[in-house]
Amino acid sequence: MAKAIRFFGLNTGAKIPSVGLGTWQAEPGVVASAVTTAIQVGYKHIDCAQAYSNQAEIGSALKKLFDGGVVRREDLWITSKLWCTDHAPEDVPKALDKTLKDLQLEYLDLYLIHWPVRVKPGEFKPENLDHTDIPSTWKAMEALYDSGKARAIGVSNFSSKKLQDLLEIARVPPAVNQVELHPAWQQPKLRAFCESKGIHLSAYSPLGSPGNLKSDILQNPVITEVAEKLGKSPAQVALRWGLQTGYSVLPKSTNEARIKENFDVFNWSIPEDLIAKFSEIKQGRLLKGTEFVNETCGFYKTIEELWDGEL
Ligand code: A2P
Repeated sequence: MAKAIRFFGLNTGAKIPSVGLGTWQAEPGVVASAVTTAIQVGYKHIDCAQAYSNQAEIGSALKKLFDGGVVRREDLWITSKLWCTDHAPEDVPKALDKTLKDLQLEYLDLYLIHWPVRVKPGEFKPENLDHTDIPSTWKAMEALYDSGKARAIGVSNFSSKKLQDLLEIARVPPAVNQVELHPAWQQPKLRAFCESKGIHLSAYSPLGSPGNLKSDILQNPVITEVAEKLGKSPAQVALRWGLQTGYSVLPKSTNEARIKENFDVFNWSIPEDLIAKFSEIKQGRLLKGTEFVNETCGFYKTIEELWDGEL
């Protein structure tokens, strides 16, 4: 019988649901019904961010679900992220309060530093890329953890080196690093590092963001062959591979059928001989973060610096 893999354990002792609904690029106007459908189907985990500009609508949907007795707050896992303009220590608690207000929640299950990049408030332009000081931002994140408003804290888009630097100064180690992970960007070095340090990895763009980043992972011959053999869809195979590799997956969809399809990944598994085939897939990072790098005014002058060579 296949292993269900419904949760992963975190270094806080909490259990993070292994499949969450991604809400990046889920437009206002459709995101509420996507969240509602997902929770009705059985999703327990919604991945949000201030930067996605849709948290107030998600908050209204959650309130209706709680008021209607469809789900209880304590049975859900809600993640959100601190945007780059809020890295100054005095801004960190204000940013969380705004997110809690928008989401109509008392606490988050997980709050992440969205990028290891500080940006001055105002228009997003290279001149506004600021001096980044993760230790001071992290200290403010630790205070949120102490307050109970963020029951776990973590980071996103951190390389192994940036995690190592953070671990050296952290009183509360990060519970999660949320990064791009999928069969065409498997990140073995980062996975091994996180495993050795007890940091859980969550995957954004686990399908390769076919609508947005225009990848063709779901047409990759290895994925389609495995899908055909198992009688599953390519998306289900990509997600199940992630779960079996040990990370939680955050597929975004606003389509009811695909929201359901992406949750049907628990009671079957990819056998070892087919897992071995995933090593044949050509590798490449899709989301490079070029907007956070600038040769003259950026804190990171090059993409190599941003990712510490993990490209
Ligand atoms: P849609 O919202 O119309 O379903 P990722 O999570 O990797 O960023 O991918 C999100 C993209 O993949 C969106 O464009 C989404 O479109 C699409 N998508 C989500 N689920 C599936 C699926 N099961 N099969 C094909 N495309 C999907």
